[in-house]
Amino acid sequence: MAATNAQWGSRLGFILASAGSAIGLGAIWKFPFWAGANGGAAFIIPYIVFVFTIGVALVMAEIAIGRRGRGSVVSAMKNVGGKTYAALGAFGVLTSYLILSYYSVVGGWCVSYLVDSFMGAVTTTDADLLKANFGELVSNGTKNIAWHLVFLSLTCGTVILGVEKGIERISKYLMPTLFILMLAIIVRGMTLPGSWAGVEYLFSFKWENVTAAAILNAMGFTFFSLSLGAGILVTYGSYLSKDTCIPNSSLWVAMLAIQASILAGLMIMPAVFAFGVEPNAGPGLVFITVPMIFASVPAGDIFAALFYICLLVAALTSSVSLLEVVVAFIHNEWHLSRRASVILCWVTLFFLGGVSALSFGVWSDITIAGRNIFDFLDFVCSNFMMPIGGLAVAVLAGWKAWPAIREELVSVRQYSEGTIQMIRVMITFLAPVLVLVAIYQGVFG
Ligand code: PHE
Repeated sequence: MAATNAQWGSRLGFILASAGSAIGLGAIWKFPFWAGANGGAAFIIPYIVFVFTIGVALVMAEIAIGRRGRGSVVSAMKNVGGKTYAALGAFGVLTSYLILSYYSVVGGWCVSYLVDSFMGAVTTTDADLLKANFGELVSNGTKNIAWHLVFLSLTCGTVILGVEKGIERISKYLMPTLFILMLAIIVRGMTLPGSWAGVEYLFSFKWENVTAAAILNAMGFTFFSLSLGAGILVTYGSYLSKDTCIPNSSLWVAMLAIQASILAGLMIMPAVFAFGVEPNAGPGLVFITVPMIFASVPAGDIFAALFYICLLVAALTSSVSLLEVVVAFIHNEWHLSRRASVILCWVTLFFLGGVSALSFGVWSDITIAGRNIFDFLDFVCSNFMMPIGGLAVAVLAGWKAWPAIREELVSVRQYSEGTIQMIRVMITFLAPVLVLVAIYQGVFG
């Protein structure tokens, strides 16, 4: 089936797949640590405000461009805005491709910990041993590349099955499972003595914590967490039927994304405090600290396995969305079959991701701007490429093609003129200004 004719099986499937893209390692691994490092509520409140203003407006804009233009992100943007926007669409494809290369390495860590947890080899209270295990995994090139290959292959296998059979099915069953699992882990964590300090750490609002850096980090995280500016929602929107209400679906996606982040914070932070662990342990928080938590609770092995299933599912529904953007592009623009497009990505991403995989080990002394290759890629993608992609979407939807976008937004339900104008102001003015500030901060901050 040509990708241009592909369709979501249902509105729910579309919302869950989009939320699945949003909810990933960003929510479960990055959010708790970032919230902690940026002053708790001083980060969480701006994040929520950004999501419900420019975040949700850009989500609407991306989906509307996709449904209006159809095809890959490149043809959708070209159909809506002309040739210049085709190039900006291609930029989105490149962003997704690059993100996927290193995302797959972290996905590989999740697979590795999942396998270890099934063998009961993860849960121990020996912090030094856990640190050594994590260090061994990330610095061992062979292991790191092998797990990256496993995760990449899982992603490719899902995308080969196609939009409805692959992505939609996996999202429809696994995302609700993820929420239930997280709730179970939260209940366990919150019943540990001393866990309330973690809740306070996440939600106690202190004015002295409100800094420009915290607010700008919250905005960067908004982009990352809603999968904005990388062509994801344009591509997913192009598979959307006319009878789905875009503003309504966008609100759902934003709410689910926020909920996942908050739940992840509640899942990790109380337990971190209950066991006196360092809350801003960075990448180690999930992979080093969490096993300690589970080692100290009854049936910890089972909880650990459940947790890593959550993490893997979340990572997979995001990586699948990244790959779908690239595959839809190759299939539509280069006229390769869907299968051949996936195989091309599988092979090339194996090598490109391999470079990131080695950047914690044998290539760790290769640094660009003070970062190893992995960190540098993440820095460039998150702080520059996604905001630039978001800017392109804002300019196209708000300035160049507003009448068409407006038509898409009200195609199912009539909104009041005030609501429509508010959405327009967010797309046309607020989003570009904030994005430009973020880019400036990224370069000079
Ligand atoms: N939103 C995903 C996460 O939180 C990451 C992502 C970014 C996915 C950009 C797609 C595009 O993990």
